[in-house]
Formats: sequence, structure tokens, C-alpha cells
Amino acid sequence: MALRGGGGALGLGLGLLLLSAACLIPRSAQVRRLARCPATCSCTKESIICVGSSWVPRIVPGDISSLSLVNGTFSEIKDRMFSHLPSLQLLLLNSNSFTVIRDDAFAGLFHLEYLFIEGNKIETISRNAFRGLRDLTHLSLANNHIKALPRDVFSDLDSLIELDLRGNKFECDCKAKWLYLWLKMTNSTVSDVLCIGPPEYQEKKLNDVTSFDYGCTTTDFVVHQTLPYQSVSVDTFNSKNDVFVAIAQPSMENCMVLEWDHIEMNFRSYDNITGQSIVGCKAILIDDQVFVVVAQLFGGSHIYKYDESWTKFVKFQDIEVSRISKPNDIELFQIDDETFFIIADSSKAGLSTVYKWNSKGFYSYQSLHEWFRDTDAEFVDIDGKSHLILSSRSQVPLILQWNKSSKKFVPHGDIPNMEDVLAVKSFRMQNNLYLSLTRFIGDSRVMRWNGRRKLDDL
Ligand SMILES: *[C@@H]1O[C@H](CO)[C@@H](O)[C@H](O)[C@H]1NC(C)=O
Ligand SMILES: *[C@@H]1O[C@H](CO)[C@@H](O)[C@H](O)[C@H]1NC(C)=O
Ligand SMILES: *[C@@H]1O[C@H](CO)[C@@H](O)[C@H](O)[C@H]1NC(C)=O
Ligand SMILES: *[C@@H]1O[C@H](CO)[C@@H](O)[C@H](O)[C@H]1NC(C)=O
Repeated sequence: MALRGGGGALGLGLGLLLLSAACLIPRSAQVRRLARCPATCSCTKESIICVGSSWVPRIVPGDISSLSLVNGTFSEIKDRMFSHLPSLQLLLLNSNSFTVIRDDAFAGLFHLEYLFIEGNKIETISRNAFRGLRDLTHLSLANNHIKALPRDVFSDLDSLIELDLRGNKFECDCKAKWLYLWLKMTNSTVSDVLCIGPPEYQEKKLNDVTSFDYGCTTTDFVVHQTLPYQSVSVDTFNSKNDVFVAIAQPSMENCMVLEWDHIEMNFRSYDNITGQSIVGCKAILIDDQVFVVVAQLFGGSHIYKYDESWTKFVKFQDIEVSRISKPNDIELFQIDDETFFIIADSSKAGLSTVYKWNSKGFYSYQSLHEWFRDTDAEFVDIDGKSHLILSSRSQVPLILQWNKSSKKFVPHGDIPNMEDVLAVKSFRMQNNLYLSLTRFIGDSRVMRWNGRRKLDDL
């Protein structure tokens, strides 16, 4: 059945199907089937055609390979609506009153090749509406009310040969950019996609909307580069106008440092800092010098420094083994122009420790609490006062405040009812400070600092 060729597709298709229904069935089978066939339908061993129906026939599945529901009074294509007919190869839903196609509407139809939903009032198609239709070769959504399609809605349709979107008027704004790009790369034949707006593109084709090439920055993340390595943590840093990434790879006994390649426009290998059981690589920049704190589960943790003459990272100093036994997070911060970092230690007897730079090296400055199995440390500046928030496996997150006269962190409070937080991250929006707290068990939360030393739930 051709998709192209205008509004006649429905009439022609229906005629053929009705014809086959009438001719191909032995009389006895027809009688037996018809007993279960709804009054508005005509059924054969392989096909069902219903006109003006308001439900999907639920007769024995058998080998029904084609179902046509036309001129019915449906409004939604619901999830798994046809999954009791797994042999369907053709599904024709023309001239009903459908407005919505929900996620997984065609789930279970592994053999479906032809899907026609023409002449309805479809406005909304869910992102996963066509999920699983890997054999689908022909899809027509012609003559509906579609103005926009969710990004990647056709991404499962590996076998698609023809797509008909005629008779819909698309908003050719930034939301349609993905479709514009998809039309350029797809191997399927796609009908013209016409625009209803913005005004300058009215009645034009989506393919001719040139502004997508320079306009429409999106906030969607798309895969840029895949690194085929297992890793447990990642850190990024800038040095001398270049961008770097440090990735901890315990299974490869490596802290892999990558550099942005301005010509190839991706990250390339820059250096490998080898070690055992590396769980964290954190860059620290002090006066144009690049250090990387390499946290290891065994054999102690170390600090490496980039050596310009060797053009690689060389070991700079050890971190006292006695203090750190299971480093879980390294957080860098500055207080009054001085550079510190903290290692959150997640072992039972571990001491989360603050280290300070003294122009020759880093020395341990203050050990925080013992026996708490800390998972994460986050530095936050609140009204000009420095704070550390420490989360742990064994208690609620602790808030420490920097005492300006003693120059040490002192306990300042906690975040109640939030046991066993795995990670804490702060961010600011419109002068408000927020904390997001991630948990294994129990709800994760975003909280807002309310200015009275307290956190509100969001
Ligand atoms: C479709 O249904 C309407 C009423 O709902 C009816 O008037 C019309 O004749 C039907 N058309 C066909 C082709 O059955
Ligand atoms: C289109 O076909 C070419 C050649 O067969 C193939 O290399 C390419 O991956 C296909 N593109 C898509 C998006 O399927
Ligand atoms: C770092 O290690 C990776 C993986 O073993 C290797 O492909 C890469 O060439 C190495 N890079 C450098 C700069 O030695
Ligand atoms: C800060 O440290 C000073 C000096 O050690 C001490 O007197 C003061 O009580 C501390 N303040 C707080 C809030 O702990």
C-alpha cells in the first residue's frame, strides 16, 4: 500500500481489505469466527475490519495479521492497546477521532510493518509512543493536527522506509530543530514537513528553515564522545586556556588525563598516572601549577604535579597513610586566599581530613570526625562564612562552620531526618542557595537555605 498518492490511501486500502475479507475464507471458518466477531466488524482468519467501532475487538488472537478500525469513536491510543494481537503486520486506524498516542501504544507488536493513523485529530504523541516497533517499514500520520513531535520519537524505528507527515502544520521553532536534523540524516523517505509558524516560515518546508544552522542553542545534552573505559569518578579543570578531564579507572589502575583537542573537537589522551585501586583524581590549580590528588584504596594516596620539562605528571608528595584509608571524595576550596582540600573518608575508623597548601606542599590541617564513614564533602559559602557539609553512612549530614579566630572548622548543626546521604551538592539560583542530597534508601531531596540557618524542604 503506497503512502504517497494523497487522501485516497484510506479508501483504496479499505476496499482491498474488505475484498480479501469476503473472498479468501472458507465458509465454515467464516461462520465460526463470525460468532465472535463484533457486529460492527467483519472478521476472517487473518484480518479484522471494524467500521464505527468504539472498542478494539478482543476475539481469539490466532494469527490475525491485519486489523483496521475506521470511522470509530476512540479518542486515545492507549498503552498496549493491541498487545493481544501479537501477529499484526498491518494496523490501520484511519478516520477515527484519536487525539493522543500514549507511550508504548504498540507494545508487543514485534512484527508490525505498516501503521496508518491518517485523518484523525492527533495532537500529542508521547516520546515512547512507537517504542519497540523495530520491524515497522511504513508509518503514516498524515492529515492530523500535529504541530510538534517529541525529540527522538522515531529512534526505535530501525526499519523505517517511508514516513508520511503530510497534512500537519508544524511549529518550525527551536523545538523542531531535532526533526530538521533527523530529516537530514535519516535513510527513510519522508514527505514534506510544512510549517505553520513562526510567521516568517509559514507555508515553508521545515527543510528550508535555515535559522537552525546558527540559532537555537538547546539545553539538551547529546552524546559528544564516548570513552570505552570503566571509571568511578571524573574531574574537569582548565589550565592555560585548555580544558582537561581526569578520570579515575580502578580496573585499569590508572588516572587518565585527557586534553581537549581544538582541531578534532574532542578529548584526547594527555597523560596516564598509574597507581593501584585509584578511586579519585582531583585537580588542584595553584599559581599556574597543576596538581592531581590521586586517591587510592590501597598503598596510600598521593599528589602528582605536572612537570613542564618532562611533559607529564610526576609524583610530588604522599598523603599520610595513617589518616586516609578509604577516600570517597576530594573537595577543593579556598578561604581567605588560602587553598585547602578535604578528603572524605568512608572507612569505619577513617578520619575525614582537611589539607592546606603552604607554598611547598600540602599538609594535614584538621581532622574532622572519626567513625562516621563519610561519603561526601561540600564546601559552601553562606553570607560570607565558610561551611563544610559532610554526609555519611552512619548519621545525618553534619554542617561545620569556619571559625575565623581559631581558623578551624567547628560543628554548627546538622540536617535532620536525612540519614545515609551518599552525595551532597550545592547550587545557587536567583540568590538562593540550594542543596541536593542523594540517598540510597529513602527519598533524595533538594533543600533551600532559608537565611535563618535552616534548610527548607522543597
Ligand atoms: C462514519 O460515521 C458517521 C457517524 O458517526 C456516519 O455518518 C458516516 O456515514 C460513517 N462513515 C462511514 C464510511 O461509515
Ligand atoms: C544510512 O545508510 C547508510 C548506508 O547503508 C548507513 O551507513 C547509515 O548508517 C544509515 N544511516 C542511518 C541513520 O541509519
Ligand atoms: C594512556 O593509556 C591509554 C589506555 O591504556 C592509552 O591508549 C594512551 O595512549 C595512554 N596515553 C598516554 C599519553 O600515554
Ligand atoms: C571561635 O574560636 C575562638 C577562639 O578559639 C573561641 O573563643 C570562640 O568561642 C569560637 N567560636 C565558636 C562559634 O566556636
